[in-house]
Amino acid sequence: MAEQTSTKAGKAFVYTIGCQMNELDSELAMATLEGDGLNVAARPSDADVLLVNTCSVREKAEEKAYSWLGRMKVLKRENPDLVIGVLGCMAQKEGKLIFRRAPYVDIVAGTAHFTKIDEYVRQVRATGKRILAVGRDEEVETEKRLKARETRQSAYVAVMRGCDHHCTYCVVPNTRGMESSRPLEEIVEECKILVGEGTQEITLLGQNIDSYGKRLQPRRRTLSELLYAVADVPGLKRLRFITSHPSDLKPELFQAFKDLPNLMPYLHFPAQSGSDSVLKRMRRGYTFERYLELVAAAREAVPDMGLAGDTIVGFSGETDEDFEKTIELHERTRYQNAYIFMYSERDYTPAKEQGLPDDVPLDVKKRRINRLMKLQRQWAAEENQKKVGRVTEVFGEGPSRKDPNKQEGRNPQNQVVIVESGRELQGQLYKVEITSATDAALYGRLV
Ligand code: SAH
Ligand code: SF4
Ligand code: F3S
Repeated sequence: MAEQTSTKAGKAFVYTIGCQMNELDSELAMATLEGDGLNVAARPSDADVLLVNTCSVREKAEEKAYSWLGRMKVLKRENPDLVIGVLGCMAQKEGKLIFRRAPYVDIVAGTAHFTKIDEYVRQVRATGKRILAVGRDEEVETEKRLKARETRQSAYVAVMRGCDHHCTYCVVPNTRGMESSRPLEEIVEECKILVGEGTQEITLLGQNIDSYGKRLQPRRRTLSELLYAVADVPGLKRLRFITSHPSDLKPELFQAFKDLPNLMPYLHFPAQSGSDSVLKRMRRGYTFERYLELVAAAREAVPDMGLAGDTIVGFSGETDEDFEKTIELHERTRYQNAYIFMYSERDYTPAKEQGLPDDVPLDVKKRRINRLMKLQRQWAAEENQKKVGRVTEVFGEGPSRKDPNKQEGRNPQNQVVIVESGRELQGQLYKVEITSATDAALYGRLV
């Protein structure tokens, strides 16, 4: 059957918007298509199948998807056989509305359906009919159906999907559904295969990774157990995991950083706000004090821990005083890097549905974000300055994008480190003495 309908293979291109989970899902979707005989296209104009993997977390991300689709419409006019598919969170959230706004789209496949993209493409080619696959009762089949995935020195592995929190601003529980964890043994198996093929660094992904294993049968598992099991995979040089939630992170976890030499000291640990009343309206489940206690516990257990944060400014009802607390939280946490966003009201979120108004004017949001970003950059630069003179171990990623005569890589804290080197250092571990630093990168010489 498959052979009869997949003769028109061709090339596929995917444009990815959104988080690391989307990057991984795009890779898995492409691997599925490659398993069906398609090749990767370098440009949209070379492709017979065009996919966009979408994000709904902020309005801008959705606009980006529609404007890309608008540009692809021209290609479809030139080549009516072109198959266009929309995957990911916006596909899940908007469903058939996407066909209304972009009638030239052939496939809308939600967050539990992207690995069936090969079947959908075949069906569209055979019948010319549109496909809508956004059902929620379905299990995410993902990795199980996977054929060869491209070998990368640094790979993502999804360990759990979905989120059981109800942060009032957030659309993710709606687009990704409830938490569901993969069996520990299956994850370890996948990591072994990846390392066997040459992967040296693995980042475990979960929207709320600290609650990994919560509902697994026959018994519940923990993130800690998982980290010990994966770190043990022979040949794995570096292990990371993201993203942690301050209400779910268990301080016992810090023991794993002490015990496992290949578990890198990096914690993506979003606070979202420093104001207790805003945190309450966001339904985050912790206070300013509790957050700082956890940060202190992390730093006590792992003194060189690199901390990254996410912050939303201008959430419903945020006053100048509330915002000052957020600044104080950044000042005291001293994040090595922070992702700072202006609140963007989304449909299907508790905030929207329960009438928490988007009442901070745009110019106030802008003023606040600019001020916080400036301070954050200043504090990060100061912290990085303290690293000058120290030696750090770097995992090479190849020529620096800004200056191809230099080599770029990451230190254990996941910071970019740039050195001058005539030699190609991609895929190698090497020691660097830091000689200078900015807020965003460290510079040094090979030792
Ligand atoms: N599961 C992760 C990521 C969620 S989305 C976590 O809990 O941290 C990534 C980030 O986008 C969030 O941490 C938050 O800072 C931001 N975000 C989510 N919803 C948003 C919204 N409506 N407006 C602005 N930023 C938002
Ligand atoms: Fe969204 Fe909150 Fe879940 Fe993160 S923890 S995905 S911010 S609901
Ligand atoms: Fe990721 Fe955006 Fe979905 S952040 S989980 S792609 S809404």
